[in-house]
Amino acid sequence: MTDSSAKPVSVLFVCLGNICRSPLAEGVFRHLTRSNPSIGTVDSCATGAYHTDEEPDERTMAKLEENGIVDYEHAARQIEKADFTRFDYIFGMDRYNIRDLQRMRRSIAGKRGVNEEELAKVMLFGDFGGTEGEEVIDPYYGAVDGFEVGFEQMVRFTQGFLKKVLPTGEQAGS
Ligand code: 4NP
Repeated sequence: MTDSSAKPVSVLFVCLGNICRSPLAEGVFRHLTRSNPSIGTVDSCATGAYHTDEEPDERTMAKLEENGIVDYEHAARQIEKADFTRFDYIFGMDRYNIRDLQRMRRSIAGKRGVNEEELAKVMLFGDFGGTEGEEVIDPYYGAVDGFEVGFEQMVRFTQGFLKKVLPTGEQAGS
């Protein structure tokens, strides 16, 4: 699947709260695709509204900073219908995100009388990591190394995505 068209690819990362996993994904993805003309809008959001307008969890920011990503800023927001036409790809972090996103996509397509394929592709980000179905475990209440594991996953998934989707020679540095 190589997209060699001129239109930049836009990507939205989604998790439950938009304070841990999806901002981590967004921060890593932005860092690895900086100045890449094939990448357009990059954003992240939540399926839930629990943390709307909050900054990312301090453990997310610490993990990004520890890895040299010091310029990332974000305020949590909930996903909205327009996201399904604004973005080419909507990436969920776990199966519950995917279930919620697919449900929303189906409902929007049904109400508009359009084919679901005309809306953003909903995929598990972990499908680009080498093993289909790899989820990012919610680190909010989880093990102390959750953010470390998550960071490694985001780098690997980003590199896998870029390799699959971008024209040859435009992959991220590691
Ligand atoms: P995230 O983690 O979905 O990776 O942002 C969570 C953060 C907060 C909550 C759940 C998950 N919460 O229930 O407050």
